[in-house]
Amino acid sequence: MNTSTWKGKKTLVLGITGAIAAYKTADIIREFVKREWKVNVMMTEGAERFVAPLTFSVISGNKVFLEKDFLSDERGWKIPHISLSDIADVIVIAPCSASTLHKLAHGDGSTLVSATVLASKCPVVIFPSMNSNMWENKATQRNVQLCRDLGYIVVEPEKGKLACGYEGKGRLPSLNIVVDEILRAVCPVKDLLGKKVLVTAGPTYEYIDPVRYIGNPSSGKMGFAIAKEAWYRGADVTVVSGPVSEPYPYGVNVVPIISAEEMYEVVMNNAKNVDIIVKAAAVGDYRVKEKQHQKMKREGKDKLTIELISNKDIAAELGKRKKSGQLIIGFAAETNEPVENAKKKLQNKNLDMIVINDVTAPNAGFRSDSNTVTLLSKEGVLSEISGSKDIVAEKIWDVIRDKFLSVK
Ligand code: PMT
Repeated sequence: MNTSTWKGKKTLVLGITGAIAAYKTADIIREFVKREWKVNVMMTEGAERFVAPLTFSVISGNKVFLEKDFLSDERGWKIPHISLSDIADVIVIAPCSASTLHKLAHGDGSTLVSATVLASKCPVVIFPSMNSNMWENKATQRNVQLCRDLGYIVVEPEKGKLACGYEGKGRLPSLNIVVDEILRAVCPVKDLLGKKVLVTAGPTYEYIDPVRYIGNPSSGKMGFAIAKEAWYRGADVTVVSGPVSEPYPYGVNVVPIISAEEMYEVVMNNAKNVDIIVKAAAVGDYRVKEKQHQKMKREGKDKLTIELISNKDIAAELGKRKKSGQLIIGFAAETNEPVENAKKKLQNKNLDMIVINDVTAPNAGFRSDSNTVTLLSKEGVLSEISGSKDIVAEKIWDVIRDKFLSVK
């Protein structure tokens, strides 16, 4: 089993500039240290006025490079901006002040941070953060465009209450967005660039009356991991999600639904425009024949019989309507004879591949953060994968690429 992952150990060079959000970068450093990445921090003089360098040095476990180190010969012939740019797998500027943005846009190498970016060949991700009027100023917007033209990734600030008292666009995005943008920047496989991917995730609820439903324990984690990995790899992703408490994945278009009938409508409306469909949702096979409009009363009833009728099989319908070149990947949640049962679903629904989930296995299936799956195509078992749902999603896309896509 191949356990290597592109999300593994990397070197992040993090430039912190003079903006109040400088204190939030401690969380970014902690997140990547947790992932066993090496984090090297460099700070502008402005940043030093907001947070003491010692904070970042303790959290990163590394020396923090300051403006006074710029052009110093402490490291011999490799002065800091060259050694930092050489070791970086990705350079992140967070928060990026208006003046550093201007320097980056104009190739101005007069500070340690801007010179490091200028000397680099790796991906550069910039998170501008400032007063909303400064952000909206044409000069700033022109600098954003110039940076994008240079190939830097500029992530729009978030809207909200700003430290300066203003309300508007200017906040450093939340940690999950920062992390996802950095992962997307370092993702070396862009095999889904230009592809449209539709993923279904989570459960469906089939309401009996306004307060009761028939559902299942799907959390959406597996489907969301599939969707996020596709986005890292360059796809344009739509997720049709049942009701879940898990946060929606960033970067993808999410269409929330409740019932299997609603999921059917949304999936069918979108299916003709997509290249790859992954059906990770746990769809209710039945719904109540007559939904009650008022809460059902218990009084006087020892027994309750509810008549259920069959829902349409979305995957099977997709299989019938499959357009040329389209890929349909199903999931199978099984409790017994997983391969035999999944094989029938693969054939009956005209799927290209099915991901078999033995939901009785330990640390796998519904709600768990990890999973163990077997991938089956018409030719037989393709792969067995075990790990966190993020890693399982990565390996599933690797198999899809190797088996079905012409890109390498
Ligand atoms: O969401 P998590 O907590 O992370 O859990 C992940 C998971 C266990 C839900 C997921 O990995 C999984 O196995 N999903 C498929 C669950 C399921 O409904 O399996 P099934 O064997 O009943 O259905 C087979 C396939 O047909 C599935 O792709 C399903 O989406 C599809 N189907 C089923 C019924 C129906 N009416 N329409 C469908 O499209």
